[in-house]
This record gives sequence, structure tokens and C-alpha cells, in this order.
Amino acid sequence: MPATAIVGLQWGDEGKGKIIDGLAADADVVVRYAGGNNAGHTVIVGGEKYVLHLIPGGILHQGTLNLIGRGVVVDLAELAHEVDGLVARGVPVEERLRIDGRAHVIFPYHRHIDRCVEVWRGEGRIGTTGRGIGPTYADKVARTGIRLADILRPELFEKRLHAALAEKAALISKVYGQVPEDDAELYDQSRALAERFRPLIVDGGRLLSQARRRGECILFEGAQGSMLDLDAGTYPYVTSSWTGVWGIGGGAGFPPRAIDRALAVSKAYCTRVGEGPFPSELYGEAGERLREAGNEYGATTGRPRRCGWFDMVSARYAAELNGLDGLMLTNLDVLSGFDPIRVAVAYRVDGETLPGFPAETDLLEQLEPVWQELPGWREDITGVRRFEDLPANAKDYLRFLERGLEVPIERVSVGPGREQMFVGENGHEDLWAS
Ligand code: IMP
Repeated sequence: MPATAIVGLQWGDEGKGKIIDGLAADADVVVRYAGGNNAGHTVIVGGEKYVLHLIPGGILHQGTLNLIGRGVVVDLAELAHEVDGLVARGVPVEERLRIDGRAHVIFPYHRHIDRCVEVWRGEGRIGTTGRGIGPTYADKVARTGIRLADILRPELFEKRLHAALAEKAALISKVYGQVPEDDAELYDQSRALAERFRPLIVDGGRLLSQARRRGECILFEGAQGSMLDLDAGTYPYVTSSWTGVWGIGGGAGFPPRAIDRALAVSKAYCTRVGEGPFPSELYGEAGERLREAGNEYGATTGRPRRCGWFDMVSARYAAELNGLDGLMLTNLDVLSGFDPIRVAVAYRVDGETLPGFPAETDLLEQLEPVWQELPGWREDITGVRRFEDLPANAKDYLRFLERGLEVPIERVSVGPGREQMFVGENGHEDLWAS
């Protein structure tokens, strides 16, 4: 298996958890390279549900090493909570997990500032997950952040934390007019947590370089989706990291040229959590129907997801940027009973068709999608295990998406279970031999 990237093609929540879980069985190393515990990857194994926020999706597989890369922002208390939850269920996490010492750490003041800034933004709020993600990345870029490796050096940590606390307390009280949290215990708590994780803290770049030399299979696990990417997405309604394949180089510490294959996960329709443009959104009863059919509620915050039809314009844009080799299509079963099915195939503003996916947030909010209607199907397809057994209209829908995206649909998922998946018409039976 070559070094493979799996990213989200849309606005996150594409079902990456299940896909990564499936591929992780053949991987030696699974790497998270961006985001933090704003992500929520759901995996169902033997009828048991696991929701992973920070820990990579190979953790449930024996013989797979999982790396939290340097591009991830780590909330140590949340990490400890997630580790404890898995250990209590019999998963030998400490054997299977490593964390890059260069990863930046989320402190309580980051979460506090995340909430303050959202209030400050008013109408323009982003609808963040409130996990402190943006403020932690902002500190990283401003060079006031604190990394895991720094916490392991008591004197250095004391100095950096002291400086950060002074600045953040002033910001929280003087700018946002709030009371900063009590930080008397923060130094000791952070030190204790970092010491607990010390045996797992590594140079992730080195680990990956050694794995590569040994010819091991490396899977890069994207979080969020390409349309939430800081540079590619619907800015400012994005997350604060590089979610696409382009984030792997810096966020994992891996040479970009050594990435052999890029796969993306996409739902057969579209969802988005939080604020921001969503060109193919369905409002009212139609959106509600799709939300209920797909049980579209956030894995991290429980918020109802906004739902809409498949958006070919943003999908083509994201496919191109990621240099996509293949698509993993999820939730096809959810569309059973929707007739007709629509796909946004172009965007129009004032009667003019836009040439691609626009950068301008106001245009994204005004545009009218051009819809293509396709006939739906009524059958329950959750038991289908071969492309040939799909209803004719479901086959045609997949062919339509494949033609539009110009990449093969490698896998089609028709339910949450590991076994509810089959090879697409033009997909490769052995994904790694192709
Ligand atoms: P943040 O990442 O918490 O700063 O939130 C920024 C935006 O990204 C908000 O619209 C969130 O709802 C969205 N977001 C962050 N993580 C996820 C995710 O894992 N799935 C879906 N949306 C997400």
C-alpha cells in the first residue's frame, strides 16, 4: 500500500471515520495531520460505536501505529479523556499511539477566547465548535503558542506559559470584558498531563521517515473537509488549518512528493455544520427530511447539520486542488425515496454562469445553483453488496457523479457498518494494487 491520503471533499462529516477504519486494517501507520478535537470520527465495530476526536482511526486495529502529527492542536485533558475511554473498553492505546512533540497545545484560555470572539463577531459569527481551535492556531502563527515538547521542559514552559497568561488575561478582561479563568493549577496540570504522555511523544517526521524506509504503509487521515480549509474553503467560514492533501507536508512532517495517492470521501449529498455559504442547501421541510433520513447531527457538538443536494461545483473544485485519484462515496442509502434527486452543476449570479468556485463570500451567498434533476429510487439499498445489485437509477446517479468529477468511485457505502460497502463500477477491487 503506498502512502495514501484520505481527505474530506465537502464541509466535513463525510463519513471519513468508517472509510479510514476500513483502510487502516492494511496500514502500518495512520496519521492525523490537522485540526484538533473539533473533529469527530464515528466508527462502528461489532455493533459498538466509537467516536474519535483526536486519536487517529487506526487505534482500533492491532498492529497499527497511530500518530497525532505536529499540525494537530492538542487539548491534553481531552486527549487523556479519550485515551481513558478507549482503555476502559480494552483498547491498548499506549502501545498504538504516538504524538509529535511539535504539536501545539490548546489551553483553557484558547477555549475562552474562542467563545469571546464568536460573541464579538455577532452576525458574522462562524459557528465554531468552541474547542479553542482558531485561537490556538492563531497563537502558533503569532509565535506565542506552546508545544508539547515545550511543556516537557519545566523552565521553558514556565516562562512561556507565564507570558501567555499575562497576555491572555489582559485580552479577556480588557478587550472582551470577561473574567479570565483561574489559572493557578494550569502549570501543574499541564506538566502532569505532558509527563503522562512523555513515553508517547516523538519526532513524528522521523517516525514517518523510518516507516517509509521500511516500506511501510502510511495512511494520512484528513479531518474536517476541503471546503472548510483555511486557504481553499469558504473563508472566513472555515476552520483554522489545512484540511486538504496540501496540509500533509507540514502537518505530518512528510515530503509532499512521497504521497502516492489521494482519495477523498464525500457523501452522496451535502451537509454543513455552523455558519457560512452552502450553495446547494435545502431549506424547510426538504432539508428536514434529508436531515432525518441521514440522522444528520454533529458527532462532536450534536448540532443539527444543514443539508443539501450534492454540489458538483465545489466537489470539482476540491477534487482538482487535492489532485484526487479516487472517491469514496458514503450515505448513498440515505437518498432512497428521494425522487427526483438534484445536483448543483453550476452557479449563476445575475443570469451569468460563474466559471468555477468563487472566492467572494458575498457571491457565494447570492448565487443561484443550476440544478440537474435525476430520477431517484425507492428500494432500501442498505443490504446491497455489489454495484450490479443497485437499482438502475442509483447506478445512473453514481455514473453521473463519476463523469462530473472525472475520478473513479472506488467504494460506495450504504450504511454505517464495516460490511456495508462495495466496489464502485470503475473502482479497483484491490485498492492498493491499482
Ligand atoms: P472550528 O474548527 O471549531 O474553529 O470551527 C470552524 C468551522 O468549522 C465551524 O463552522 C465548525 O462547525 C466547522 N467544523 C469544525 N470541525 C468540524 C468537523 O469535524 N465537521 C464539520 N464541521 C466542522
